Amino acid sequence: MGDQAKLSAGGADYDYPILKGSVGPDVIDIRKLYGQTGMFTFDPGFTSTASCESALTYIDGDEGVLLHRGYPIGQLAENSSFMEVSHLLLNGELPTKDELEKFEYTISRHTMLHEQLRQFYQGFRRDAHPMAIMCGVVGALSAFYHDSTDIADPEHRMISSHRLIAKMPTIAAAAYKYSVGQPMLYPDNNLSYTGNFLRMTFGVPAEEYEVIPEVEKAMDRIFILHADHEQNASTSTVRLAGSSGANPFACIAAGIACLWGPAHGGANEAALNMLKEIGTPDKIPHYIERAKDKNDPFRLMGFGHRVYKNYDPRATVMQSTVREVFDALKVDDPLFETALRLEEIALNDPYFVEKKLFPNVDFYSGIILSAIGFPTTMFTVLFALARTVGWVAQWNEMISDPGQKIGRPRQLYTGPTQRDYVPLDKR
Ligand code: SDX
Repeated sequence: MGDQAKLSAGGADYDYPILKGSVGPDVIDIRKLYGQTGMFTFDPGFTSTASCESALTYIDGDEGVLLHRGYPIGQLAENSSFMEVSHLLLNGELPTKDELEKFEYTISRHTMLHEQLRQFYQGFRRDAHPMAIMCGVVGALSAFYHDSTDIADPEHRMISSHRLIAKMPTIAAAAYKYSVGQPMLYPDNNLSYTGNFLRMTFGVPAEEYEVIPEVEKAMDRIFILHADHEQNASTSTVRLAGSSGANPFACIAAGIACLWGPAHGGANEAALNMLKEIGTPDKIPHYIERAKDKNDPFRLMGFGHRVYKNYDPRATVMQSTVREVFDALKVDDPLFETALRLEEIALNDPYFVEKKLFPNVDFYSGIILSAIGFPTTMFTVLFALARTVGWVAQWNEMISDPGQKIGRPRQLYTGPTQRDYVPLDKR
């Protein structure tokens, strides 16, 4: 008998098994609690709840650790590629040279969109937010691939996963092109996954597009940093949608919708808008005070995290990438100095220190993406593009779990108890 957690409730004592993972907090297995006690646990926001078992990504928020299948994010960002990390997340191991070439070939052969799907963009206003377009177009993929929506078939699951990973850059680039009134480019499979995306985004039919190696590497690294992140809000959304048996395209569309929120993936767009609003470093103290004021809804966007109570290791890599991109593009954005100063002031302010609020992955990403040429409205689209591999890997892990069942939380009901209907003339 392993360790047990004891609970006394309703005049009775109960023992619940304590389960151990390979690393990280143990969990108390309370699956029988309601049946035995007639009570639910209560954990809005799931701050103390493990929703599933997973072998994909491990985060230690106190130590600032992020591992993908055991490999530290810093090592992957430095040495790997987004395609290699995608293979790692989907298949569990870093690929051999042959496996990587086969994976890249497979992905590159799914980069085109059905010609009818390209017509969907025409239905949007030109000023539609690209995330609105992503929600619509990705959800619509389920109308095109009836040949691979049997989620019980591992082959169908894998081809759907490959299609989603492969088509996100094409869909994202097309959303940008539509917003600026330029023609959508077809993929060029002679380019890398990330180079292909940059060309589809910034290239025009009138001339050759030259992929700048430093920008391609920085963009690829940004994709790696956003690939997966344990059971965050959008991944939990994908898992819950998938638990009903919904097709993978609909599940990923649900994840995109959740990611859009400014408290989650929308924070990169909000963080750059915040830096623009602050403007120069002399305005920082005023905004720091606003962020600390409970009566002011203003928060420092790009700061704080549900799990990281130490530095977000992705922010560290992101900060060093800013200088690489600035040097490669010979740009110098004063907002970077404002961001550095804001970080320095905030990290020395007792409020942020006590609440353990550090820059997260979204704090610096906007500065880099802006320097590369993306409008702020595209920032969360890029987050969704990269997170798609994490979403599909988590979805595959859930569907292939023999113990998987539909997610259906309960509640603490505080509404009116039963009462009789009152006819209209009696009210
Ligand atoms: C992502 O989960 C993931 O893994 C997400 C993500 C991923 O890769 O999937 O890492 C990506 O979403 C990163 C987070 C991006 N969001 C932002 O940068 C938005 C600003 N941050 C906050 O909204 C907030 O920090 C959250 C939403 C990120 C975390 O929220 P929590 O865990 O619910 O923390 P909280 O809101 O309860 O904050 C704790 C305290 C509160 O004060 P008290 O109620 O205790 O007095 O800190 C304060 C908050 O008011 N606080 C902030 C703050 N963030 C939290 N105060 C000022 N500025 C902030 N940014």
